[in-house]
Amino acid sequence: MKLHPVDLKIMAPEIFRVFGTQNALLSAGGSDNCNTMTIGWCQLGTLWGKPVCTVYVRPERYTYQLMESCDYFTVSVLPADQKKIMGYCGSKSGRDTDKIKECGLTLRRGAGDAPFFDEAEWVLVCKKAYVQDLDPACVLEKDTALPFYQEGGWHRAYTGIVLEAYAAR
Ligand SMILES: Cc1cc2nc3c(=O)[nH]c(=O)nc-3n(C[C@H](O)[C@H](O)[C@H](O)COP(=O)(O)O)c2cc1C
Repeated sequence: MKLHPVDLKIMAPEIFRVFGTQNALLSAGGSDNCNTMTIGWCQLGTLWGKPVCTVYVRPERYTYQLMESCDYFTVSVLPADQKKIMGYCGSKSGRDTDKIKECGLTLRRGAGDAPFFDEAEWVLVCKKAYVQDLDPACVLEKDTALPFYQEGGWHRAYTGIVLEAYAAR
């Protein structure tokens, strides 16, 4: 076993470096419908006095269905050299293929049976706490945001309370 539970208070993931370069795998689902996809957008912080993680999922993703039906999700950051896996999970859909099996990822389960991977550098296990669609009417930085929506639906934001953190030793 490579990943070990860590105290969130001493965890310092380099969030601005990781997201946008290394990125992460967002995973959800049970034994019959578990799936993962690459995400480039993520926020960590505090809400309602709790540590939280927010991810953004377009409605056309298969993972969206799982994010809707599951109460828990995970964010797994793989080592920077795992570009092939990140590319595969960011271009193939779980509707058509078992990405976890194809990538040879070792499945583990955290709180709420949420799926994550032993190959990760660090993992957050989250329980959904707040869900809201991004609203075009609320965008102030139109030049920044609108190019992302030439095609494809507006993302749904899922904020989860971080229940468990794991890091590789
Ligand atoms: C680097 C990268 C970052 C991505 N970030 C997101 C994201 O934050 N939100 C999202 O909805 N899709 C994102 N995607 C696209 C999904 O990973 C991709 O559509 C995936 O195939 C969906 O898989 P699924 O149908 O199994 O859910 C990203 C793709 C890449 C390559």
